Amino acid sequence: MALDRFGRNIHYLRISLTDHCNLRCVYCMPEDMIFRPNAELMQDDEVLLLVRLFTSLGFDKFRLTGGEPTVRANIVKLVGQIADTPGVNSLSMTTNGVSLSRLARPLAEAGLNRVNISIDTLNPENFRRLTRWGSLEDVWAGILAAEEAGLTPIKLNAVIVHGYNEAEVTGLAKLTLNNPWQVRFIEMMPFAGATDLQIRQMVTAEQIKNIIEAQLGPLEIVNGGQLDGEARLFRIPGAAGDVGFISSVTEPFCAACTRARLTADGRLRLCLLREGEVNLLKPLRSGANLEELRQTILDAIWHKPWGHGLAEGVIPLNRVMSEIGG
Ligand code: 5AD
Ligand code: SF4
Repeated sequence: MALDRFGRNIHYLRISLTDHCNLRCVYCMPEDMIFRPNAELMQDDEVLLLVRLFTSLGFDKFRLTGGEPTVRANIVKLVGQIADTPGVNSLSMTTNGVSLSRLARPLAEAGLNRVNISIDTLNPENFRRLTRWGSLEDVWAGILAAEEAGLTPIKLNAVIVHGYNEAEVTGLAKLTLNNPWQVRFIEMMPFAGATDLQIRQMVTAEQIKNIIEAQLGPLEIVNGGQLDGEARLFRIPGAAGDVGFISSVTEPFCAACTRARLTADGRLRLCLLREGEVNLLKPLRSGANLEELRQTILDAIWHKPWGHGLAEGVIPLNRVMSEIGG
């Protein structure tokens, strides 16, 4: 078991498989983003070795992120190999959905359990404005394909940006009326690259909830207000699905954090919003033995920071969001 010095049991690893993406969301990366060369990224055998190492430390829950994980070469094969690793009890993916109409079924067959799909607006022009390069139609087809393939429960992520999509929060929430989906509103977090917009155009979870309640009436509390992962869940009375709020900025859930992150270039990042990282790929490539690597990981986890420092104005500047995977 990997414990940190605050007694948290860290057993959930989010692995960024690539920093590359086929979209350029305004809140995530600059349009002229430069990506890392492939040789700097973990190769398939390196990812698999690290997954085995983490399972040996008690990690049982894994999520594949990016950038956009589906743009990685041989993604279906790699998902199958990770899913087949003993100790991997839950394997999910966070994706922009663009490629899911093609990949949902093969990924499900390879052993992927679930997907979270980003969709910030239901308006095609607004979608293009927010993602710069995306087509809403592709993502919508991807959501339906994921449901069809059994990658359920479907969770949809929406980041609300002032001046872009506030007017759409109720429409997004209403997707849950007839679909057993979880629509989760994520507070925009500040990182390097897009910081100005991220700070000035951030909309809080409370503001989003107020907009929805002003239009639809009070939301019902689900789960007695307990966190579901990182989301606080509500329901529009009578709806088939839930509306979630992830208030990472205004009401952080650090006390309940069980996660660590592996960046695509093989650094163990202990907190999404803190710069501290420990390089695992370098010792792996220079021949460290597994026991040494295991100790490096345990030591890094022991020193996981308590939580982020946004309230004190501390913003992580060493990476943009797409390099960490959310
Ligand atoms: N703040 C909050 N969420 C973000 N995402 C990307 N950038 C940010 C940001 N700055 C979201 C994406 C996706 C998930 C991986 O993280 O919309 O759903
Ligand atoms: Fe790509 Fe996701 Fe970042 Fe959008 S939020 S640019 S889809 S990595």
